[in-house]
Amino acid sequence: MSTGPTVYLETFGCQMNELDSELVRGHLRSLGYRFVEDFTTADIVLYNTCSVREQAENKAYSRLGLVGMRKKAGEQVILGVLGCMAERDGADMLRRFPQVDLLCGPGELDRLPALIDNVRRAEGAAREERMALAGSKSRRSTTLAAAEDHLELLDLSRAFDPSGPDAQRRSAYVRITRGCNKFCTYCVVPNTRGAEVHRPPDSIIDECKRLVDAGVVEITLLGQTVNHYRYSHGLAVDADGREQPQVGPGLAAFRAPIPVGQKVTTFAHLLARIHEEVPALQRLRFVTSYPRDFGDDILDVMAACPRICRYIHAPAQSGSNRILKAMNRGYTREEYLEFIDRVVAKLPDCTIAGDIIVGFPTETDAEFEETVSLLRAVPFKNNFIFKYSPRPGTVAIDRFEDDIPDEVKRLRNNLLLDIQTEVSRTVHASWVGRTVPVLVEEIRDHDAARARDDASPDSALSLVSAHPSSKNVEIRWNRRQATSRHGLQAIGRTPGDLIVAINLPPDAPSSQNAQALVGTVVGVELTAAAPLLMQGKMV
Ligand code: SAH
Ligand code: SF4
Ligand code: F3S
Repeated sequence: MSTGPTVYLETFGCQMNELDSELVRGHLRSLGYRFVEDFTTADIVLYNTCSVREQAENKAYSRLGLVGMRKKAGEQVILGVLGCMAERDGADMLRRFPQVDLLCGPGELDRLPALIDNVRRAEGAAREERMALAGSKSRRSTTLAAAEDHLELLDLSRAFDPSGPDAQRRSAYVRITRGCNKFCTYCVVPNTRGAEVHRPPDSIIDECKRLVDAGVVEITLLGQTVNHYRYSHGLAVDADGREQPQVGPGLAAFRAPIPVGQKVTTFAHLLARIHEEVPALQRLRFVTSYPRDFGDDILDVMAACPRICRYIHAPAQSGSNRILKAMNRGYTREEYLEFIDRVVAKLPDCTIAGDIIVGFPTETDAEFEETVSLLRAVPFKNNFIFKYSPRPGTVAIDRFEDDIPDEVKRLRNNLLLDIQTEVSRTVHASWVGRTVPVLVEEIRDHDAARARDDASPDSALSLVSAHPSSKNVEIRWNRRQATSRHGLQAIGRTPGDLIVAINLPPDAPSSQNAQALVGTVVGVELTAAAPLLMQGKMV
């Protein structure tokens, strides 16, 4: 058994971060590090952080305080901040949080082992030896020298361990683009993740094949604006003729025909190729879609390929044209609705999800009402609703005062949540009576849970469905629900991402045997609907 240093790694933020953490774990494990679940005993504590809203950063800051206490007590522990906050705060974080030993931005994660070595070898290592940040170089040019793209190697070296801690759900992420070029005025991502880089289709398909060979049944393709994937062949090859990642084209590329003689793999082509070339893959999904430039070609491929999930997460952000313009989203309310009409016409059983920001600077009551009416006009399965959070380094924080009082943001947020609950209930109800395949993700043993609850009366939890910015579909029961149930329940998701709870019959195998259902697809008749969850029985 390995005796290497122990590492605790906690991840905040979106699926990109989840994937980055998985790659970091694989990389460090291959070097002899061992991962542990308890930060209080680990030799190295790493937080992979998110900057998208202030609240996300506050969570990480409070963790830094806890590790600081270990250090004050004289313990030898290395504390590293990875991800978007490291990139956004930069050296300033080392100044404000002296307990932080190393910083590693999301574009530099391949250098993490070297940073850890530097800190371990020399107490008081110079700042430069403890930081790997892209800084201004992340957007440095419109061409990407192949040799500079070390990160691609991290993706390529990925090893999905079918017996590993992440593997039980048999669901994996595959990055198709990194970074973002859209510059929505409120958003830090273009600063923290750098320029949009598109991976070569062959690398993506190889990765999908390797994952499926290792037992993965569901792959989610990741990109900040995933439908903007576009790879021009013959432009970026290495000395051996292998295609390399390339910087994405501007938005104009989507309004003009593909130049004669230029071979391009569009997002629609990529989906069709994966579907065709990885036939053992049971489910192919993708996030996040940008409501602009989501062409019929993509919808046609989705309609023709049964293993591509009919699920589109396309954040509208607002229903007001003036606010959309101030956000620099690049589409109007009418264009968003036209896109949804096309989705519904071509894929009637497609589920649609989104994100909304309330209280963007200068948003009036009337403009907020336009968001309300958008929510009522679209059959959204769910919407994640966020209060605007001014972010350092964005255009919005410089251009606009954060003039909507928090109280108003909160009211708007709650109102939208109520409306979305109604809309979700209607969407879920329309599925009752249908039989659907469900990928089981978890087995709940309610008798055991009740015994635990009785032992700790404060453990009441509510049912939540987490934003894709946190990987796991978090399903929690409040105490009343939990105590009214008996026996075993399987929890899973349909191709359209509806969460389904399946009561296993009383003569069902024991909890241990039922665990074998996790990671398998079972046929389920949907019997009842609630706003966040469906009930079903196995057929
Ligand atoms: N690339 C994705 C979104 C990435 S960030 C897209 O364009 O759809 C995830 C969500 O966080 C966004 O959709 C937005 O709703 C929210 N968000 C981003 N910046 C925010 C901010 N400054 N304040 C509040 N919400 C924000
Ligand atoms: Fe942020 Fe806009 Fe890019 Fe999404 S598309 S990551 S919201 S800048
Ligand atoms: Fe957060 Fe960075 Fe993702 S800011 S949402 S972790 S890209």
